[in-house]
Amino acid sequence: MDVIGEYVRLQPAGRSLKGLCPFHGERTPSFHVSRERQLFHCFGCGVGGDVFSFIMKIENVDFLDAARILAERAGIDWPGNGQAGAGGPAHSRLLEALDLAARYYQYVLRQAPPAHPVWRYIQGRGIDQTSLQRFGLGYAPPDGDLLWRALERRGFTAREAEAAGLILPGQGGQWMDRFRGRLMFPIRDHRGRVIAFGGRVLGDGEPKYLNSPETPLFHKGRHLFALDLAQDAIRSRGLALVVEGYMDVLTCHQFGAQYVVATLGTAFTREQGMLLGRYTQEVVLSFDADPAGRQAVFRALQSLAGQALTARVLLLPAGEDPDSFLHKRGREAWEERVEQALPLPEYLLGTVLSGRDLQDVQQKVQAEQEVLPILAALVKAVEREAYIEWAAARLQVPAHALRSDLRRYLARQRNGAPAEHTIDRGAHTSYEYASKAAAGLVGQPDWEKQLLVDLIRQPQALSELVHYGGADLFENAQWRQLAEAMIRQWEQAGRLDGMALQETLDTGAAPALAAVLAAADAAAPLPPRPLAILRQLLRQRTERRLEAWQRDFSLLERRLAAVLRAPRGPQVNEPAQGSRSGDQDNANNPNTLVAGLVDALRKYKILRDEAYRVAQLSRGGREQH
Ligand code: UTP
Ligand code: MN
Repeated sequence: MDVIGEYVRLQPAGRSLKGLCPFHGERTPSFHVSRERQLFHCFGCGVGGDVFSFIMKIENVDFLDAARILAERAGIDWPGNGQAGAGGPAHSRLLEALDLAARYYQYVLRQAPPAHPVWRYIQGRGIDQTSLQRFGLGYAPPDGDLLWRALERRGFTAREAEAAGLILPGQGGQWMDRFRGRLMFPIRDHRGRVIAFGGRVLGDGEPKYLNSPETPLFHKGRHLFALDLAQDAIRSRGLALVVEGYMDVLTCHQFGAQYVVATLGTAFTREQGMLLGRYTQEVVLSFDADPAGRQAVFRALQSLAGQALTARVLLLPAGEDPDSFLHKRGREAWEERVEQALPLPEYLLGTVLSGRDLQDVQQKVQAEQEVLPILAALVKAVEREAYIEWAAARLQVPAHALRSDLRRYLARQRNGAPAEHTIDRGAHTSYEYASKAAAGLVGQPDWEKQLLVDLIRQPQALSELVHYGGADLFENAQWRQLAEAMIRQWEQAGRLDGMALQETLDTGAAPALAAVLAAADAAAPLPPRPLAILRQLLRQRTERRLEAWQRDFSLLERRLAAVLRAPRGPQVNEPAQGSRSGDQDNANNPNTLVAGLVDALRKYKILRDEAYRVAQLSRGGREQH
């Protein structure tokens, strides 16, 4: 296959081709590609699949990105690659402009004489030739619009250059370069395409680093500096180290620690965590030891909540950052620090507890106030329990006291209201009981009715129901109708009244209402069911929707795969002979398929958020009991 041939040197071997497997290190080729079947397989490490799985694996992208890459090769328009949003320039044009800019800055640097301040700065910071090349550093000339003129000569419009974040409107309607007189760090995505720049002043000056603005290609929270260079090392080392500065990354790589990336001047985000999660299970953070750095570590803890990644924090002596530390102490001392990095919660709890006189009650209370948000950010029950014990021992308070303060804290946090306001409060049964009851109930034919019975008895839970979708959560029409009426009355009158409900309902609904009211009267002491059932309901609904989405998506995926796999060439654009010339309008038209996939992805994002909210909700439930 010509696609795989771009990545692996293939030689004919019988009916197939073979070469060195790109997915594991080997000396004798055991990687086979079958032309006829369009499949690959490695007898060494067992990987195999079609061209999509190959691209997904080697580029480390999801299916959609793989399809995009293949579509680009096949010359098929890909929405989002084409017109950006409301008619902005094509992404591909922005990428070309940024690539040109990177090469231009490198050219300007190479042309600068050895005595030029930029070279003196580079030498002063100990950046070697290999790093210059590896990171593609350059220099933005100090004069007004040289880059813009270069871009214009190559046929770029001002609109394109501006959208790429490279130029700004200046005085008198002139365009001027955004970056002037700075050492330029290209910021690339994980595939190595330049998407932005960070430019450092030579010496002192404000701002120290000037970054590209957010553009259609560049979102600070979604990318990590140098991930393209670091990904192999991250995979083989089994951990990713996240630092704050571009220079820190560069120096780490220069000293051989190539598993290092940096955030882009913002807190570590969920998306960055998920991005790293493609390569590793473990993240080590090295942020400054000042209050801002600690705050950043705390934010990282929150971003990582619920993700499979474990996180540790690397400690450096006060006043050092990775760059200065490595230059002073070298790689070995660095690796020691990496090994000694503390689990993230332990680090944060430690910073709060240290330097306090815990015999003093006021200080103890103060320390506990700072401990609670940290414990609250731990979502894995086992981990949270372990740190409750740990912190309680250090604070010298009984663990159960800390646990109950934490419960109150969580309730307050959730409701934005006094801790006392929890619907299930006073319930004598545990969450486990309730969720078993709910699990048993959901799926039984009358469980929607049972939820209504519980809601009649605990109408406060109706507000929660509304929050998570209201009556639409009910599938059975008669219960849905009743739920609607109950919600309406609750919202208008602040209470439920059987007679009043009856008046607002069709006569056809009367038996349903009567049945629910009777069951509510007859029901024994109240189990804390409504919320547990509601959670179950939401989880099931989300799962059903995700399954439906999965089915739609696989169908589109298979169709597009078939279209892209078909022999390329004139057939794609020109009407095929005879009866198949109507293809442009049919469901197998690649553009229609791609539009469908992009649409499906959008839907998926909504569903994923919903699933996340539901997961939060079920965690909330556990904390209430
Ligand atoms: P630092 O000021 O800690 O940078 O900012 P550093 O890498 O140690 O800088 P050097 O060693 O003095 O060159 C860390 C990161 O914060 C962002 C940049 O991403 C920088 O790498 N930053 C910092 C800005 O975006 N703008 C600034 O003015 C400063
Ligand atoms: Mn520094």
